[in-house]
Amino acid sequence: MAQNIFNAVILAAGKGTRMKSPIPKVLHSLGGRSMIFHILKELRNAGLQSVWVVVGHGRDQLEAEIAKIREELKLSVTCVVQEEQLGTGHAVQMAFDKMPSSKLPLLVLNGDVPLLSVQSIHDFINSSMKAKLSVGAFRTENPTGYGRMVCRGSRLLKITEEREANPKEKKINLVNGGLYFGQASFFAKYLPKIKASKKTGELYLTDLVALGIKEKVITVEMKKEDLLGVNDLSELAMVERVWLNRRLVELQKSGVKIIDPSRVWISEDSIVAPGVVLEPGVMLLGKCRIDEGAILETGCRLENTKISKNARIKAYSYLTDSLVEEGAQVGPFAHLRPGSKIGAEAKVGNFVEIKKSSLGKGSKISHLSYLGDATVGQNVNIGCGFITCNYDGFNKHETKIGDGAFVGSDVQVIAPLEIGTNSYVASGSTLTKDVPTDALGIARSKQENKLGYAPRLKSRIKGSK
Ligand code: UD1
Ligand code: CA
Repeated sequence: MAQNIFNAVILAAGKGTRMKSPIPKVLHSLGGRSMIFHILKELRNAGLQSVWVVVGHGRDQLEAEIAKIREELKLSVTCVVQEEQLGTGHAVQMAFDKMPSSKLPLLVLNGDVPLLSVQSIHDFINSSMKAKLSVGAFRTENPTGYGRMVCRGSRLLKITEEREANPKEKKINLVNGGLYFGQASFFAKYLPKIKASKKTGELYLTDLVALGIKEKVITVEMKKEDLLGVNDLSELAMVERVWLNRRLVELQKSGVKIIDPSRVWISEDSIVAPGVVLEPGVMLLGKCRIDEGAILETGCRLENTKISKNARIKAYSYLTDSLVEEGAQVGPFAHLRPGSKIGAEAKVGNFVEIKKSSLGKGSKISHLSYLGDATVGQNVNIGCGFITCNYDGFNKHETKIGDGAFVGSDVQVIAPLEIGTNSYVASGSTLTKDVPTDALGIARSKQENKLGYAPRLKSRIKGSK
């Protein structure tokens, strides 16, 4: 196995008080995946084999997530516990003490800075190689909340935290991005010298700069976009916007046509093929896969759903854990609930709900129907207002409809029940028994016409008023 050429530690033990959320901060997501996932993924893609994470607040939840990520990314991740969150300096000290005495340089990243890309990590490290400590920084019109890089000329003197900053320092718009790279010897020498802040009692990692003033400590100015931090939900939304823009541009460059990118949301784990068209308001959650030539019209929300080649999902449809095969059409206003499979060239029309059912190739269910726990063969036509009565209050029951059957409008099927191949079901029927192959099933009361009765009825009703 190749060896790391540097060690990396992610700080993720903090409470994230400003998030006002019970979920540990680094578990909040961008594109449906946690911040910690994005950071670990980029570090893995940057060539690291193993990474350290400092955990503390919400530790159990965080460790469970890290266990999944470890598997998925095939990355060795070691958690170090910081029992009490005594500050970023203390957090790094915890990890540093646990690392086998290594001469390798150390990369330190705040766990709430999730937009770093492989490229920005490489650029940062290349610029850092000759220094004892480098700090990734960026310029911003609104430095509030960030540590200010206090410099004399080009020389970095110290980093002052927001709470400790004087009015002049507060105006500095070059801020600490929470990304550091330094020699092991530098950390070994200066980490133990950090003293608790008089204001907060915390040990600030940023004090390393002033402590190591005699050594070569440098600022590496980076793009703001790469170092934006997340401290509250508004910042999370801002950071997710940046993440999403990058994702959509990447898809557009690969040949996906996105009509209005400001109104499309695509998760990290969804795959969209070239030649797909996405209209405004499309959301792809979880693991979706959209194949070439498919069109998703406005307002569609899909989760863990696969859309095959040239299928069309018409406006305002809601699809979960389902499969739509080649050339099929669904919607507008259709609801595919988990376990729905729509065969090639089949058609599901407006106001149709389908649950745990399959519709065979070329079959149609075009209007106002509910299909639950059903298996429908090929080239079946189901009229308007069809209902599978699949639930008796205790159990779910299945319906089977054979190839080539024609089911008229306003038919209810009291499941379990089977409608045979090439059979015909008369409109308005409430079926309680199977319909054999090639048979006509009719289950409705006979009509009676009373000739000339209407005027008499009308005058009787009028007279009684
Ligand atoms: C920190 C920096 C600030 C910088 C900003 C960049 C310090 C003292 N300040 O401020 O200069 O501009 O990041 O985003 O470092 N954490 C622990 N253990 C602790 C405390 C924090 O693991 O005891 C973790 C947090 O989970 C978080 C990261 O360290 O992921 C940063 O902590 P946070 O409290 O968000 O620091 P900031 O106030 O943003
Ligand atoms: Ca922060």
